[in-house]
Amino acid sequence: MKIRPRRLRKTSAVRDMVRETGLSVKNLIAPLFVKHGNNVKDPIPSMPGQYHFSVDMLVKEAEDLWSLGVLSIIIFGLPDRKDSVGSSSWDREGIVQQAVSAVKKAVPDMVVITDVCLCEYTDHGHCGVIKDGAVDNDATVELLVRQAITHADAGVDFVAPSDMMDGRVGAIRDGLDSKGYYNVGILSYAVKYASAFYGPFRDAADSAPQFGDRCSYQMDPANAREAIREASCDIEEGADIIMVKPAIPYLDIVRRVSDISPVPVAAYNVSGEYAMLKAAAKNGWIDGERAMTEMLVSIKRAGADLILTYFAKEYAHLMG
Ligand code: PBG
Repeated sequence: MKIRPRRLRKTSAVRDMVRETGLSVKNLIAPLFVKHGNNVKDPIPSMPGQYHFSVDMLVKEAEDLWSLGVLSIIIFGLPDRKDSVGSSSWDREGIVQQAVSAVKKAVPDMVVITDVCLCEYTDHGHCGVIKDGAVDNDATVELLVRQAITHADAGVDFVAPSDMMDGRVGAIRDGLDSKGYYNVGILSYAVKYASAFYGPFRDAADSAPQFGDRCSYQMDPANAREAIREASCDIEEGADIIMVKPAIPYLDIVRRVSDISPVPVAAYNVSGEYAMLKAAAKNGWIDGERAMTEMLVSIKRAGADLILTYFAKEYAHLMG
């Protein structure tokens, strides 16, 4: 036998030398949940190791992450009031707005991203406003623009629209520019599927729809061609980074999108992917640390430049 692939797996040093995919802590973005109050750090039961933080405790967490080499966080807010249009989402004193300015003050170099959507702020839990029983696209886009501008006022680096309305990236870009926020970027949830893997997040963010589902705005899990169309629209409308979500059941989509994208591609290793792994590890059914590393490396290997993951801190500890 002349060809023996095992020669390249012979020792740890040889394997290290020829490894194709490297995953740096610098590629990870940590999602964090913020709510009103003081000195609050409440565990989220379905996501072991994740918490609801008050702004003061969120700042501590951001400082910890920064010291571990995690460069970026994405903030999700739990408001103290909800209504049919999600008006607490564009309150200048809103929970996310407060969190952004506090983190930017404490860790100015940290790349702070905010989720822009209405589902956490509406009493019906949909990602937009309801007209005649359905989510109205254009009326929703106007409100998302308003929300994004208040995040920019608070000092955010990137806004991340996750609503899946048509045309929102272009509208947010125009809105930010009209206020002089040329340097605030857009990380768009360009390719977001209607997925059961968001289950734990919806508990954590109290954002489950109270009627119906999200299938008229989020994508059909069976579709791949549509991913290219969604990604292309957002790039044309001015997205600086595009995202595929979820990650693990959609690695083929990450690959396809990454192959055609002229901008960096992020993938969201979502709450259900995290919860499944944690539950299996807790039962002793899987080696949690190895499975985490394998999961994250596979997302990178599939073509993601950046990974939004609840494992960010744990992986940073492991690397540090
Ligand atoms: C808000 C939003 C969701 C997630 C991120 N932003 C939930 C949803 O669309 O229902 C999911 C994140 C996760 O599951 O980790 N629209």
